[in-house]
Parts: sequence; structure tokens; C-alpha cells
Amino acid sequence: MKPWNNIIQLDSVSSTNSYAAELIKKENLPEGTIIIADEQSKGKGIGSNVWEAEKGKNLTFSIVLYPNFMDVSKQFMISKTIALGIQKYLSFKTRHISIKWPNDIYYTDKKIAGILIENSITGSKINHTIVGIGININQTEFFSDAPNPISLKQIVGSDFYLKDELVELKYHLAKYYNRLKYKSFKEINREYLLNLYKYKVWSDYKVQDTLFRGKITGVNDFGHLQITTPDNEVKEFDLKEIEFVF
Ligand code: BTN
Repeated sequence: MKPWNNIIQLDSVSSTNSYAAELIKKENLPEGTIIIADEQSKGKGIGSNVWEAEKGKNLTFSIVLYPNFMDVSKQFMISKTIALGIQKYLSFKTRHISIKWPNDIYYTDKKIAGILIENSITGSKINHTIVGIGININQTEFFSDAPNPISLKQIVGSDFYLKDELVELKYHLAKYYNRLKYKSFKEINREYLLNLYKYKVWSDYKVQDTLFRGKITGVNDFGHLQITTPDNEVKEFDLKEIEFVF
């Protein structure tokens, strides 16, 4: 397994994902290059969301990958792989860490980490992937309208040294990415489901303002959530089509 040792440390940047995208245009970055910043002035979240992270208190970084061994139709496997790496890393710190579909990381019912994956695709191949990761580590107050943030410090009670945490996290991420390279898709899918928030648990969901009850029973290759209803019908949903009701 190749170590991901090319680390570009920045003080302040608009977004590490955007910075990585610009750098790739100019330079040949080795696979696993990490661009990490103490502060992002416009940290990007999923959709039009902003990622809130207080300067110097959290892990906010992007990794450059070249998953050209994979067909674009399997791109959700990258999300699963990265989510599992983070889930595993955090599970060494505390219990109750799960992956909330599609790829948020939760501690009980609260969000501790987010992932923003941006792929560059030509035809059916992925040229490069920028994996943006934000993990709330030492921050204890959150001011944005993000519904349910929590940090590792709020859970465990102590401060963490970010550089050491990055080393640990990198180890788990590279390990899972290696599994993806060896096309251990079945194993990754299995582990993803085992760690999925509310998997096989009857819960309430909202679709276009209508509430319904169901349980998550799978996630297909396109990353669509599969929910089985009480009358045994399996419904599939894309992101934005469905909301979890807490
Ligand atoms: C989400 O909305 O859950 C995704 C959040 C992703 C945040 C990270 S922080 C580092 C990287 N750079 C960005 O601009 N966003 C991602």
C-alpha cells in the first residue's frame, strides 16, 4: 500500500476542494496527495450548503485520487469506501458511529463529519476524484444552521492533536481505498450496510411533504436508497428525493 505522504498544508483557503481542482490542472499530483487547511473561507458542503469549521479546530482537507480502474457506473463505491474509512477511524475513539446515507458520518443522531466527492469524468472513466472531508474535532460551538452538528471533543471530552488524527485517519482511508483497488466490492457493500444509520430499523421518512414508514434494506450501485414499506414494496430514492424524519 502506497503511503499518502504528499501533504500540502495551507493556512487559509476558500475551499480545499476548489484549491485541489485548480492545482490538478497545473501539476501532476501523486495519488493520495492531501491538501489541508487550518481555515476555509468558503468551505463547500453538499449542494449549496456551506461547511462550517472554526479555524484550527477541525480536520478540513481534500485527497486527490485516480480511480481509473473503475467504471463510472460504479462511482458510488468511492463514497462508500471513504465513508467506511472515516467510520472506522472514528470508531476507535467512540461507539455509536454510523454512516448516514449517502455519506454523512453520524454519532448517534448527530453529524460529526461530511464528505464532498467531486469526480472528473471522460466517457465512462473517472480521470480524477477530489475527496473533500470535514470532521468536527475540537470545535464546541456551532453557529451555522446545520441542524445537528457534534464534534469529537463534545463526545469524548478532551482535545485532539490534529496532526496525529490525520495520520490515523489517513491509515484507514488508504486501507479501504486499497480494497476498492482490488475490487472487493462485495465486502465494501456488506460493511457499508452493516454500518448504515437506521439500516433495517423501522423509521419515518418524508417524500414531497408526505410521511411514510419504512426500513432501509439496501443501497444500489447508483447510490439510490432502497426502502421497504410495511406492505413489502421496495422503493428507491435519489438524494434530495427523501428526508429522514428525526
Ligand atoms: C457535507 O455537506 O456534508 C460535505 C462537507 C464537506 C466539507 C469538506 S471540508 C474540506 C473539503 N473542502 C470543501 O470545501 N468541502 C470539503
